[in-house]
Amino acid sequence: MNKLAGLTNTSYRRGLAFFALAFVMTWSTWGAAQVAPGNPQNGKVLYEKHCLQCHGQNGDGQGPDMKFLKVQPANFHSLTSRSKTDEELMTIITFGAIFSPMHGWADRLTEDERWDVLRYIRLLAPFNPMAFQSPRLDRLEG
Ligand code: HEC
Repeated sequence: MNKLAGLTNTSYRRGLAFFALAFVMTWSTWGAAQVAPGNPQNGKVLYEKHCLQCHGQNGDGQGPDMKFLKVQPANFHSLTSRSKTDEELMTIITFGAIFSPMHGWADRLTEDERWDVLRYIRLLAPFNPMAFQSPRLDRLEG
């Protein structure tokens, strides 16, 4: 009886160890796959040179040139912007937003530079997937 309990306990522990190992391995692979491209330090330099005048020092869309624009620069801190994926924002940075002063940057910045600047924007205002589920918050935000 006692012996049997001991056995079960050992195989239970082995099973647990196996799952723990499998978990750690899966998790670390997932973590490695999640490393986001782009260098935010370089992005900051590019941002201040090319984007700040419209999008503002902190990315709130209050840059000095905003007063000349009919379509207001995006506020990267808004839930609308924060809920967009990197890929969605990269598409806008690359090709621009139609009928707006936000032109595409594909001809001025290399792909790496566009990732750098996006990484900096994400540092100012991190991706927030929760915003997908909160359309009401978005409306409250104005
Ligand atoms: C002349 C002003 C101006 C400059 C310079 C500018 N933008 Fe924009 N940007 C805008 C405007 C205006 C919008 C909003 C477009 C719309 O709402 O249709 C916008 C939108 C965006 C968006 C989309 C945000 C969203 O939530 O959809 C991103 C990303 C963006 N800009 C990145 C950049 C980057 C990176 C740079 C510099 C390389 C830059 N912008 C330079 C005016 C500018």
